[in-house]
Amino acid sequence: MLTIKLNNGVEMPILGYGVFLVDPKECERCVSDAIDVGYRMIDTAQAYYNEEGVGNAVKKSGIKREDFFLVTKVWITNSGEEKAAKSIDESLKKLQTDYVDLLLIHQPFGDYYGTYRAMEKAYKEGKTRAIGISNFFPDRFVDISNFVEIQPMINQMETHVFQQQKKLREYLNKYNTQLMSWSPMARGENNIFENKTLKSIAAKYNKTVAQVALRFLTQENVIVIPKSTHKTRMQENFEIFDFTLDNNDMEELRKLDSGESIFVSHYSPEFAEYIINY
Ligand SMILES: NC(=O)c1ccc[n+]([C@@H]2O[C@H](COP(=O)([O-])OP(=O)(O)OC[C@H]3O[C@@H](n4cnc5c(N)ncnc54)[C@H](OP(=O)(O)O)[C@@H]3O)[C@@H](O)[C@H]2O)c1
Repeated sequence: MLTIKLNNGVEMPILGYGVFLVDPKECERCVSDAIDVGYRMIDTAQAYYNEEGVGNAVKKSGIKREDFFLVTKVWITNSGEEKAAKSIDESLKKLQTDYVDLLLIHQPFGDYYGTYRAMEKAYKEGKTRAIGISNFFPDRFVDISNFVEIQPMINQMETHVFQQQKKLREYLNKYNTQLMSWSPMARGENNIFENKTLKSIAAKYNKTVAQVALRFLTQENVIVIPKSTHKTRMQENFEIFDFTLDNNDMEELRKLDSGESIFVSHYSPEFAEYIINY
């Protein structure tokens, strides 16, 4: 598996498996299937209510803990130094492990500076090997980068062919923070699987649209965590390193960028109210 080196030297797989919207009852089976396919990085969150399923699958796999790269995220209701610290310990318990590999602030709402301090402490105590943020739009990313002790190693953001985060990437590079994509296949929206450009490039390499969408991001050095509850699709999404998109195809795919989110804007007050009350 290709890896990406984070700003603290930790190596992280460039491809993992995400479990957003995976029913807690189904999560253990899904993660076991993903492990069987070969995934070792698993991305969960307190707000997905399925950390236990991830923990069970990892434990039952019989594979050494250090071969996995586990990611979880602190939710808004647990924001603030004290609450966040407690919630991190609860996540570790649910995941049945002494440490995670990456801990993220899920959303830039609430007392997220307090949350970040709790994560810095957890990092120093060895409860996590890396820390970062998620959904920090360029302005909030610059803000937090200037006022914390430890520079975030990751910013996990909506990133796919239709939203390539070009502006944010300038600033991530400047501050040495790695981009990790959520919804790398745009969660199937925007008719992605029928997109003409993606389809014609996929045909050229004898690959699928999903594989081209994921390969495009990894060739741009973006970490991806595709989600599927179907083992055949998990396999398909895993087989993306046996071909390389040429420069022309990369250029064509770069043109699909709309520069905008296809789901939600964190600049919208309506969305802020929705997510705070989620
Ligand atoms: N930090 C955040 O705020 C945030 C937000 C959203 C997501 N995430 C993370 O990012 C992960 C991935 O994002 P996502 O789940 O939103 O979207 P995604 O991975 O882009 O797309 C998942 C959707 O595509 C379908 N699918 C998967 N593989 C396919 C294939 N090969 N062909 C056709 N359809 C396929 C899945 O359906 P089936 O399951 O039915 O196969 C599901 O409907 C999440 O699971 C989560 O870990 C983080």
